[in-house]
Amino acid sequence: MAEVVWINGRVYPREEAVISVFDHGFLYGDSIYETIRTSGGRPFLLQRHLERLRASAAALHLDLTRTLEDDRQGVDEALAAAANPESIMRIIVTRGEGDIGYGRDLCRHPSSLIYVRPMHPLQDPETRPGVRVVILSILRNDPRTVSPAIKSGNLLNNILGAHEAEERGAEEGIMLNPAGQVAEGTMTNLFIVKNGVVRTPHLEDGILPGITRGFVLEVARETGVPVREESFPPADLLAADEAFLTGTTRAVQPILSVNEVQLGDGRRGPITYRLMRAFAAAEARQVAAGDHGDTSS
Ligand SMILES: Cc1ncc(COP(=O)(O)O)c(C=O)c1O
Repeated sequence: MAEVVWINGRVYPREEAVISVFDHGFLYGDSIYETIRTSGGRPFLLQRHLERLRASAAALHLDLTRTLEDDRQGVDEALAAAANPESIMRIIVTRGEGDIGYGRDLCRHPSSLIYVRPMHPLQDPETRPGVRVVILSILRNDPRTVSPAIKSGNLLNNILGAHEAEERGAEEGIMLNPAGQVAEGTMTNLFIVKNGVVRTPHLEDGILPGITRGFVLEVARETGVPVREESFPPADLLAADEAFLTGTTRAVQPILSVNEVQLGDGRRGPITYRLMRAFAAAEARQVAAGDHGDTSS
């Protein structure tokens, strides 16, 4: 079991992995990233993560001249060097090293890093614990400032939200958008269930287009669970029968309480459990087929 960092084509043990203090990722948070987990030893939904990485790069005028094949090669090399049964990896692309300043010409090449560490396999739906969430006072970034759709290394909005959640004794905090509608968690997307209908904020509400969120929408439709992407106010979260979070490292995770008020009977709800099992089955099918998530399931 190992932790390694692939940096611009070379693999280093964790202790030897360094970048310049003049890298604009360090100086300004001028970077993008993806967190990807393996399933059956292979990166799960890799293609979708790489596509989102490219979309983030385009939004920040980061010139990724590398091809998709190069990205995949780096991922393969880093995973092979780590040789963990299951890994969690973070691909980071920074603006690169350059003089102080914001100009686009200051940095000649973006830097690419892939940090790989061992991961415990996800707990199966039967034993996966639920979480307590709170509705945060800090708002999600207004999409007219830095769009939440960009998965950037500039995470202060999320970090301040996570600190508030922690202070209030919750495992995750839910942010509203400037219009007062529910947006997303500090590191997760949110779904609610009321009268058998599943709802999740629309991308236009100013959220990260979560890879897991997208997969859950597909799984729900396949499973015949009615699901809608639409704006809703915090009152709908508080009055939900069930709610759950989605994210790469947790797949689908039940919410047990909101602002210390129990949801439903305070346990995982039946539709949440159905989607957790359907997700696990769809994931197993993709892994068995050796699918990198290139196609919709
Ligand atoms: C703000 C935010 N929303 C949602 C997610 C979940 O996205 P994904 O399912 O792609 O991991 C993340 C993941 O880091 C996140 O940072």
